[in-house]
Amino acid sequence: MSSALIETAKDKFGKLMEDQLKRVERMKQDTEWIDYSKLNPIIIGICWGDGIGEFISKQAQRVLEYILKTEVARGKIVFRDIKGLTIENRVKHMKAIPEDVLNELKACHVILKGPTTTPQVGDPWPNIESANVAMRRELDLFANVRPVRIPQDGIDWCFFRENTEGAYVLGSKGFDVSEDLSVDFKVITEQGAERIVRMAFEYAKKNQIDRMTVITKSNVVKTTDGRFSKVAFRIAKEYPNIKIDEWYIDIMTAKLIDPARRREFKVMVMPNLYGDILTDEAAQLQGGVGTAGSANIGKHWSMFEAIHGSAPRMVKEGRAQYADPCSMIRASAMLLRHIGHQPEAEKVEMALEVCGVYEKKMTITGRETGVTGKEYSDYVLSWVDNPRLKERWETGGRAVCV
Ligand code: IPM
Ligand code: MG
Repeated sequence: MSSALIETAKDKFGKLMEDQLKRVERMKQDTEWIDYSKLNPIIIGICWGDGIGEFISKQAQRVLEYILKTEVARGKIVFRDIKGLTIENRVKHMKAIPEDVLNELKACHVILKGPTTTPQVGDPWPNIESANVAMRRELDLFANVRPVRIPQDGIDWCFFRENTEGAYVLGSKGFDVSEDLSVDFKVITEQGAERIVRMAFEYAKKNQIDRMTVITKSNVVKTTDGRFSKVAFRIAKEYPNIKIDEWYIDIMTAKLIDPARRREFKVMVMPNLYGDILTDEAAQLQGGVGTAGSANIGKHWSMFEAIHGSAPRMVKEGRAQYADPCSMIRASAMLLRHIGHQPEAEKVEMALEVCGVYEKKMTITGRETGVTGKEYSDYVLSWVDNPRLKERWETGGRAVCV
């Protein structure tokens, strides 16, 4: 009996490893990066998402349309509406991303994506894979970049979360070996670790940051996290002006809330699941997950999204219009920066900070005690082209940073 179970498990494991070895080969061959400066037009696909997704994506789209109006009029930027990434359509096809939707996504250069529902055990939906995780894998979006800034506390963090491996890589391919025994897998490859670590170091170098923190649990998860850490220290030798140190994920979650130490951290690089957890914590410190945006960068495509989910509870309670659109607006600013529109990205980021940190004329509470997402977006838009924007932002920044 048990030997038959073991044979089946071995067989499944063998197939998974075959796929992973093929993925390693693909990573080795994949050296070219897309060059946005050579594209005309740049196609921006917008997926609206589920739950509050549609509400907040609409606001982000308004900001993008406003700030890119000249480029759109000149035909240099094209927006494309991608409708099929809803939970209903995904369930209809019983796929994380239906084939035709995936082709539509691949026909774009960058994607703005609203939060999508991730089914879980016990949901009314069948337990299909998360659309986020599938998209990250299918488009090989290996770097999840999540900035968190709390200027009034001198905090300016940038998290580089590995986005295609770790505990997520085989997330939907774990299996029950017997009635009593379940296994999932965690995978780290040399190539997968190297590309995210390198990106984090390049970011630090470009921004004259002299500190890199690698976050693992390599004292316990010795093989996979051990490899991640070894790769980080190997790459660090190429950046002698950047000091690297390793922190374990448990103490790191504590240090993020340690007022005496937390502002020392600048750029952090880590495997997938640790990044998932740590960035929610960091975002909460910034003002809530609704304030944090995220870039999913790959060599051929990139996708920009909120760091949070579709908040079905808010929709059920009739509060969707009060959802915070800042996460998606921030993601849009990251998109602008990524396709080469730095000045526009800066304006949006400064406007978000003037509204949310310095001026604070309006507040979002997620219910009728605050303003709606549309009202807040109008507030942000009113600052984007305000001639006093930079001055207001700098004054705020200088006054509070120590
Ligand atoms: C995130 C989200 C996703 C993740 C979920 C929705 C699958 O929490 O982007 O952090 O775990 O990566
Ligand atoms: Mg998360």
